[in-house]
Amino acid sequence: MSLAMPTRILVLGSGGREHALAWKLAGEPGVNEVVVAPGSTAMATEHRVRILPGVDSLDPAAVIAAARGLAAELVVVGPEAPLAAGAADALDAAGFAVFGPARAAARLEASKAFCHEVAAAAGVRMARARAFTGADRDAAGAFIRELDAAGAGAVLKADGLAGGKGVIVTESLEQAVELVPGFLAGRPVDAPALVVEERLTGREASVIAVCDGTRAVALPAARDHKRLGDGDRGPNTGGMGAYSPLPDLDDAIVEHLLETIHRPLLAEMTRRGTPFRGFLYAGLMLTVDGPALLECNVRLGDPEAQVILPRIASPLGPLLLAAARGRLPEGGPSVVPTIPGAAVGIVLAAKGYPGDPERGHPIAGLDDARATGALVFHAGTDRWPDGNYVTNGGRVLTVLGRGPTLDSARAAAERAADSISWEGMQRRRDIAVDAPRAADHPIPAGAARGAARGAAR
Ligand code: AMP
Ligand code: GLY
Repeated sequence: MSLAMPTRILVLGSGGREHALAWKLAGEPGVNEVVVAPGSTAMATEHRVRILPGVDSLDPAAVIAAARGLAAELVVVGPEAPLAAGAADALDAAGFAVFGPARAAARLEASKAFCHEVAAAAGVRMARARAFTGADRDAAGAFIRELDAAGAGAVLKADGLAGGKGVIVTESLEQAVELVPGFLAGRPVDAPALVVEERLTGREASVIAVCDGTRAVALPAARDHKRLGDGDRGPNTGGMGAYSPLPDLDDAIVEHLLETIHRPLLAEMTRRGTPFRGFLYAGLMLTVDGPALLECNVRLGDPEAQVILPRIASPLGPLLLAAARGRLPEGGPSVVPTIPGAAVGIVLAAKGYPGDPERGHPIAGLDDARATGALVFHAGTDRWPDGNYVTNGGRVLTVLGRGPTLDSARAAAERAADSISWEGMQRRRDIAVDAPRAADHPIPAGAARGAARGAAR
């Protein structure tokens, strides 16, 4: 079945993920123009990409005016904030095909307590957890002690959007208990403020599916590196680098994950009268007892998008348009076709990130990095009138290396990242270094059979 191709696409957002989205969509057959609102000056240098710098993506009226001005056939909402603010609802009501969930469905990301509630109802495994209001200090402490008595550590998560930075994986009982008041201070006493989870161990994976309410088509799986420092040390960030494919997560296992995680979540959201259309991002921990869902996001990951999108062999626009209309093809492949080979993305961050980043430092070596053949996606830059780029955000750039293998892609990304510098630049030097070379973790029986077949091919 051939899908309708959108020719004019509006993308909302301004980060590295949206740069990668605009780059991918603008390169597809039939696309006349991709407009990004507000976008960034760097995106405007891409072929067939235009930006609308004045548009506030959190303002529904401004977003609708932008979509009308372009006569957009498809609107793709990049970040979570406009979704949680109701951008998709407003665009839908104005008659646009919008890819991104309605506000009620975006709660899967906006509230970790809600995600736990939906997952429990859908029979999807998550870490053992409880939610606490601003008044529940003692109860939270008691639950942390209960976990400790059962031999489990605690993870504290602020309920609400926190740009990937509201999570602390604690190292001791004392630390966990001490941190509770900080999470609860000033928070309402009648709504979840903090989710305390049992600490799980294993490798993480991000499996993101294009969803139309009922059906789910997976994008290539990726693995993010969440901690700031090499060896997974330091504070959690929005993500310091990623790679794809995952040698330990072949298509058969991804199909199993769609069946046991994404589709049950979709069914439960539909049952609640809030069907989910958009990118459903399952952040997973692959534990010895099988995969567990750590979090849902309602969008592409960043920096996962930067490694995933360049690996997709087929046009994405028609798939997103079909999903936006609630009509992904029945019986189609459950994983998008991929370009053979691998991609490794290294995030270059500003001094101060994940706290308050230093801005305004001139960036050297961008042309040299691109001359190596790498892609450079801008997340937080500005362009001065002299044409030079300066830092203007926490995560500043993602440098993407590609190659036939993860090792060669990693070498390409390192080479390109090595040519870029600015005062105080932070980066990891171990992205994809410990990538498994094959399935080396226990996987569920059904998926294991599929994996064994895959290995024999
Ligand atoms: P989240 O935003 O919920 O995905 O959490 C951010 C990061 O914190 C995850 O990518 C993990 O690295 C870590 N994390 C979250 N929940 C847990 C958990 N239950 N056990 C261990 N690590 C976790
Ligand atoms: N890289 C993780 C996220 O986008 O939430």
